[in-house]
Amino acid sequence: MGNESKTCMEDLKLKPCISSAQLYVAGTSIEEIRRKYDLEEISKLASNENALGPSPLAVEAMQKTLANIHRYPPVADDELRAKLARTLSDSGLSEECFITGNGSCDVLAMITRAFICEEGDEAIICPPTFVVYEMMVNICGGKCVFVDLKDDFTHDLSRVLDSITDRTRLIFLCNPNNPTGTVIDRDELNDFLNQVPSCVLVVIDEAYWEYADPELLPDTLAYVREGRNVMSVRTFAKVYGLAGLRIGYGITYEELAQYLRRLRLPFHINAVTMRGAIAALDDREHVEKSVQHNRVEREFLYAGLDDLELPYARSQSNFILVKPGYDPQLVYERMLEKGVIIRPMAAFRAPDCFRITVGTRAENERLLQVLGEVMGALRMENRE
Ligand SMILES: Cc1ncc(COP(=O)(O)O)c(C=O)c1O
Repeated sequence: MGNESKTCMEDLKLKPCISSAQLYVAGTSIEEIRRKYDLEEISKLASNENALGPSPLAVEAMQKTLANIHRYPPVADDELRAKLARTLSDSGLSEECFITGNGSCDVLAMITRAFICEEGDEAIICPPTFVVYEMMVNICGGKCVFVDLKDDFTHDLSRVLDSITDRTRLIFLCNPNNPTGTVIDRDELNDFLNQVPSCVLVVIDEAYWEYADPELLPDTLAYVREGRNVMSVRTFAKVYGLAGLRIGYGITYEELAQYLRRLRLPFHINAVTMRGAIAALDDREHVEKSVQHNRVEREFLYAGLDDLELPYARSQSNFILVKPGYDPQLVYERMLEKGVIIRPMAAFRAPDCFRITVGTRAENERLLQVLGEVMGALRMENRE
């Protein structure tokens, strides 16, 4: 069929919330920039991937699985859930408390589909934050109620409480928050959860929890043990270095996890992913090395940003939010031409900022050098 052929789509009953949904725009890929600018050296510091790459144990386990890839994987994900429960054995939670998905985005999608069921059901979202909450709520026909972060980029939990109505079904809290890297204070979260009505599910997205100072991070699993309506959502995409594999998980009390598991498709986790994730959980050394690397390199980037006199938010994660004082889209485009990919944050509702991911030392040095050149040129142009 040619492009000009007419379809009968207009006769179908379409859902306006799907027709009007915005598509997710991912960080620009290395391949895209190589094609466009014919560059040899490209650093991607746009999607908060692990600078040290995947766990070697995971890669080996996945390679071994390929020989039997003509077989279906187990229909369920029991082995992975059991491994997760054993790995987090201090939590005292059983494998029945876990759900898994094709990336934590899939877990977030399952939760949203389960709770945003009728038009006008509300979810509270605290921007600037991860854009997928908003996308999912819109696709499900719900209403996003936005409660902006405070000026210091911390969550305004008292305003979140004031925004709860009888239509509120979900509250999304990202901790550490992407893109600000800030964390919610333990006592504040405790007071907050004590006041949230029990008919509202609080979703705490902990995609980056391994990077945060454990002294600062609230113990969300303690709330799960108490049977509160709290769900922690985590991923293998960040500290485990398995973003391309697509595997994430959620943790809540047994009955709620069981309810949500009904939404998963048969064989929803493929055999390669299952083996890779299980092996990654055994590689504590890789996780520790990644966290340590991040801590050192984040400081290196702070020092470089200070030298460039660029304001930024101190981060408990593997990325830093920077406010350049010039259009971040322009800074991004100029850096792209020089082979460094960063991420403007308009879609995350921080239109005057961009976000950089902590890379290897060589990548960080290059980023600072290119950022210095771009900022220098912009400052000159604006002086002229
Ligand atoms: C806060 C947050 N949650 C979830 C995700 C999605 O992770 P996954 O790759 O597991 O779907 C990301 C990815 O960048 C994220 O930043």
